[in-house]
Amino acid sequence: MQNRLDEIRDGLLQKLQEAKDGQQVEQLRVAVLGRKGELTAIMRTMGSLKPEERPAFGQKVNQLRQRLEEALDNKAQEIREREKEQRLKDETLDVSIPGLRPELGVEHPITATMNKIVKTFVGLGFSVVEGPEIELDHFNFELMNLPKNHPARDAQDTLYFSENILLRTHTSPVQARTMLSQRPPIRIICPGRVYRADEVDATHSPVFSQCEGLVVDEGVTMADLKGTLASFATAMYGEGVKVRFRPSFFPFTEPSAEVDVSCAACKGKGCPTCKGTGWIEVLGAGMVNPHVLEMCGIDPNRYTGFAFGIGIERVAILKYNIPDMRLLYENDARFLQQFGKGR
Ligand code: PHE
Repeated sequence: MQNRLDEIRDGLLQKLQEAKDGQQVEQLRVAVLGRKGELTAIMRTMGSLKPEERPAFGQKVNQLRQRLEEALDNKAQEIREREKEQRLKDETLDVSIPGLRPELGVEHPITATMNKIVKTFVGLGFSVVEGPEIELDHFNFELMNLPKNHPARDAQDTLYFSENILLRTHTSPVQARTMLSQRPPIRIICPGRVYRADEVDATHSPVFSQCEGLVVDEGVTMADLKGTLASFATAMYGEGVKVRFRPSFFPFTEPSAEVDVSCAACKGKGCPTCKGTGWIEVLGAGMVNPHVLEMCGIDPNRYTGFAFGIGIERVAILKYNIPDMRLLYENDARFLQQFGKGR
């Protein structure tokens, strides 16, 4: 019997040494001390002993039981401590490890240019108004003095959904909508995307961006238009830039002008950027045609106004010296990253 007890003790202590986690220790506890455990089974055999032998035997088994329980508890405790230490080690933060630098995008040159233009005009007291890109013929053309079959419609190759619904070809319809819903004084800019059925090439894209402006009030004159655009040009291209107006035609303005700024690359001397002329065309402008005011419910005998339209891509291309407009739409990260600040 003593042998059997020694066997159980040695067996348990041996396995306990190899135990790797609390669960294994518990399994051993059950296997030896549990209700169906080895030691419990031996205790049950006590009935077969002579009565005088029983107390000594019982004491022995109990002593062993106590000893094994202690060993199991110690081991369990040891494992718990070890696991805790490991956990603390795993959770330690090494504050000296360099951080991961998050990849930051940069402002797209079109967005950057648009923001700069919008900020400039907001600084001059203009408010920003936006409108739908899917537009009615009525707002895009009719109210802009371009009735159906007007030859000037051909200048804006239009993408139609149906006879009366189209993708806006300019942001002028936003001006019409504003004149119909607000009384003068009106001083707004309309930034946004516009669409024309143009083939893609170095200077054309079927989708591009505009920022149009409109001022309507009593006594607004061409001098106000010139002053406003001169301030804009200075803000965009710096002090000393010159602005020149060339007579032109738009159905919605009369008189109309195309507006050039002196070439920033050569300071007006003539270079490849300005094709040797010293000037670069950046926008169309003019005094709002009285008929347009009238159609939009504004009395042309009392009010006058001016309007202008800036092509954002054109301004961006010149500002950043970009040789091909397509680069702006391909969104190759290697190209765009050049316009990031401080990277
Ligand atoms: N709407 C014109 C265009 O898209 C631009 C423009 C606006 C010209 C206002 C003159 C006055 O071509």
